[in-house]
Order: sequence, then C-alpha cells, then structure tokens
Amino acid sequence: MSKPKILVARAIFPEVIARLEQHFEVQANQQDQTWSKAQWMEYLKDKDGVFTTGTDRIDAEVLAVATRLKICANMAVGYNNFDIAAMTAAGVLATNAPDVLTETTADFGFALLMATARRVTESEHYLRAGKWTRWSYDMFAGSDIHGTTLGILGMGRIGQGIARRGAHGFGMKVIYHNRSRLDAGLEAECKASYVSKEELLKSADHLVLVLPYSPASHHAIGAAELALMKPTANLINIARGGIVDDAALAAALRNKTIAAAGLDVFEGEPKLNADLLTVPNVVLTPHIASATMPTRLAMASLAADNLIGFFTENKPLTPLNPAVLASK
Ligand code: GLV
Repeated sequence: MSKPKILVARAIFPEVIARLEQHFEVQANQQDQTWSKAQWMEYLKDKDGVFTTGTDRIDAEVLAVATRLKICANMAVGYNNFDIAAMTAAGVLATNAPDVLTETTADFGFALLMATARRVTESEHYLRAGKWTRWSYDMFAGSDIHGTTLGILGMGRIGQGIARRGAHGFGMKVIYHNRSRLDAGLEAECKASYVSKEELLKSADHLVLVLPYSPASHHAIGAAELALMKPTANLINIARGGIVDDAALAAALRNKTIAAAGLDVFEGEPKLNADLLTVPNVVLTPHIASATMPTRLAMASLAADNLIGFFTENKPLTPLNPAVLASK
C-alpha cells in the first residue's frame, strides 16, 4: 500500500522529518521558502495531510483545491490560522499542540513582564548608545513587581502558569477574568480571585493577556479599556495580535495613559504598527514566547504524533474538531 502524502509547510527539526518519513511520503520545506498562496494550494492538491505552523492558513479557498486533505496538524497551541468551521464542513481534522509549551510560555510572559516593569531594554539601548555617564536617583526607575497586583485576562493553562509564578514566586495578589470561572481548587492553587473585566482593568498593576484570538476577542483591549487602567500600569500581550488595538496602545503609551507595555504579538505581524517602534516605553519581541529548543521540539513532535496517530489508528492526540473522526 502506498504511504499517505504529507506536506510540511516550514523548516522543522530534521529528526522530526526523519520520523515522518518512516510513515509518509513527505514533501518538506527545509529551505524554509516563502510560498505564495497559489504555490501553497498547488502543493496541497495531492496531499493527505499537512504539518502547519501558526502562520500557514487553511481556509475554504484552500480546502476547495485540497480535496484529498484529511488532517492539518498545527505546531502551535493557537489555531486562528485555521478556519475550523470550513475544515469541519469539509471533513478535515484539525489538531493543535497544547500543554507542551505551557510552562515555557508562562516563563516568557513573566520575563516580558519583568523586562517591561524594570525597563530592561530601554536602559540597555541607553547604555549601548554611550549615554550612561553618571548615576542619578531616578534613572530608569520602573515599577515594582513583588507585592503588586497581577491581572490576567484569559485563565487557561498558560494564564494559570503565570498566576502561580506571580503568587508563589513574587507574592503578588492575583486577579483574573475569563469566559468561565475556574473551579475553587484551581483558584486556590493559583491563589487567584475572579473579577469582572472592568475590575481587572482598573485594579491590575501588571495586566497579562493570554486569551485566544477569535472575532469575539478582537480588540478586547482598545482605547476605552486602556483608559480604565492605572496610569502606572503595565500591559503584557503574549496572546495574539488583534486582541489589542495596537494603534490605540501606541497612543496610550505616548500619552502615558498607561506606563509601559511588553508585546510579543502584533496585529498583522510580522509587520508592526510604525508608532510602536517610536515610543520608548514598550518592550518588543518577535513572537518568541514558546521559543526554547526543547519546547519547540516537543511541539513539532506532538504535531507529528497527531499525523501518525491519525493515519495509523484514527487516533490523533489533540483533535480540535473530533466530530470529524466520529463521522469517518
Ligand atoms: C504560539 O503562539 C502558539 O500558539 O503556539
């Protein structure tokens, strides 16, 4: 019997490609070329499965030509690059890569929070520019982290990881808002109290965004929400671009509506709102929250396991639209 045909959209670990090759006929993109949508659709035409990263889009237009496609395995926990409704309608399974990146991403959320609060990159730029000639009492004075109020919007696994770090490591008071409230046991473990979104915005000294992107969360933080925050507050976005209105945020940073921001994700990334590049009180990183080699390998391995599990036993590990499996 011939092996299923798999497309791997981006360069990934050679050992993961080698493992996929044991099960599949693999077309890999180890040169990491940028494909046009037309090329992408052409390559998908004869494929049974595809290994995607968070930037490779699967929508109705793609599905209309990829008529053999049965599974799209995303090497990301977020999956707003997938049109799940269109995939389900076409009988195509979607999988993502949760859990394996939770702690690494929570670590990074905290790194960005600390760099933002303590003005790490701004002061480094000053030093590198040769401007540091003498000490002064208020030079790059930032905000405290220990003992302050940590607000978390979106309290899934990563949000809980950030809450634990804040409560147990830094003695922070933790408040959160989420679509649904955590059960009492988890709240106690995270030492986190549920509050309304308005209360969260008004009370947090550091507000971390960890909610998934959807049309409902588009611009969940815009000018009105920023205006509710304390002028001394810091905003950290490790969720997805589009959750924050970046133009409104750049204006709020310039006007000191809030003190500072740390951003790992952007509307329309890798392009950035030009104003964000000119305000000093923002720390900017290129969507690297899960970027440690062990975690990226675990994410790639989970995406590969989803493909292998699906084709060998109809048992993917982390299906997003499992109804598709039942209908097989
Ligand atoms: C990263 O942003 C992910 O969704 O895994």
